[in-house]
Amino acid sequence: MSRAKRKIDHIEYAMQVGQTRASGLDDITFLHRSFPDTIVNQISLSTKVGELQFSSPIYINAMTGGGGRKTEKINRQLAQIANVLNIPMAVGSQMSAVKDKSEQPSYKVVRQYHPRGLVFANVGSEATVDEALFCISMLEADALQIHMNVIQELVMPEGDRDFKGALKRVESIIKAIDIPVIVKEVGFGMSRETVKQLYNIGASYVDVGGFGGTNFSLIENSRRTRQMNFFDHWGIPTAVSVAETAVYNDDNLDLTIFASGGIQNALDIAKVIALGANAAGLAGTVLKWVKDDGIDRTIDNLNSLLTDLKFIMAAVGAETLTDLKKSPIIISGATREWLIERGID
Ligand code: FNR
Repeated sequence: MSRAKRKIDHIEYAMQVGQTRASGLDDITFLHRSFPDTIVNQISLSTKVGELQFSSPIYINAMTGGGGRKTEKINRQLAQIANVLNIPMAVGSQMSAVKDKSEQPSYKVVRQYHPRGLVFANVGSEATVDEALFCISMLEADALQIHMNVIQELVMPEGDRDFKGALKRVESIIKAIDIPVIVKEVGFGMSRETVKQLYNIGASYVDVGGFGGTNFSLIENSRRTRQMNFFDHWGIPTAVSVAETAVYNDDNLDLTIFASGGIQNALDIAKVIALGANAAGLAGTVLKWVKDDGIDRTIDNLNSLLTDLKFIMAAVGAETLTDLKKSPIIISGATREWLIERGID
């Protein structure tokens, strides 16, 4: 199957399969306060995310490109949305444009429609330093995401079977590149052991890409005849991934934590920040809005989500995202069990 066809398939199957609601975020509850001492209109959502300045703590996560006109159109729509809201946007894996230069327009459209905003390039862990530099310059990118998607590759009939040396390649890219390099998962999450491996090779930005939203095992299994359903429930839920990473980061490591995987609404965003994340990424949720309702409604939905976030912050007594990070939360259910099992409480 051609790469371009696969890109289109991913979008279509992602929409058919939909988002699971298994991120563990429903196990998190804010402690209600009767005297929060806040004013909604004075709440600020702007935040420094590592070296990057965000107008609010959300970004559109990596999805597409490399599927000809169809993915070019989606990337244009996503970039228009990102531009109106002044939020960062990551493109999908640019490895197709590395292999086939005619695919570049489907990515470049993002910089065209989001000219002054933050744009993240995206490569796989098979990329060389030169390929990463090529992808960054294609977009004049402000940061580079390197995605790790072992389970997705295994479930894909035409996927990679050789995962040797990936950490070393990621290390070479981090050492050679002078913009932020965000190492990310794609919906299977990260443990603190993984984050430690990354920290030890010099990574300071991670996107935990947790389990519980878009599920690439379900997506790939829908595309193939021989099912590998044992991977459908495989992964570390987003709530756990963020908590594990944040606890590891507690030793003043200065890691910047991007939380993604099943972020669907303002409460999810508030919860991941209270768990220790610096920003929250939405992929499947935004794609569904764009497909079902178009650009204008998606912009309305995202504006409502940011307003909702201010209301939640007002309720918990947080005037800034730094305050929100310190808000007390209660962790129950499977997430609590998971964290106890992992020695975090
Ligand atoms: C993705 N994702 C993704 N990630 C990445 O780093 N490179 C990529 O090319 C893609 N491609 C892609 C296509 C489609 C259609 C979707 C829905 C997602 C993964 C994405 O960035 C994110 O990590 C996961 O989707 C989990 O977040 P959500 O969807 O649960 O918010």
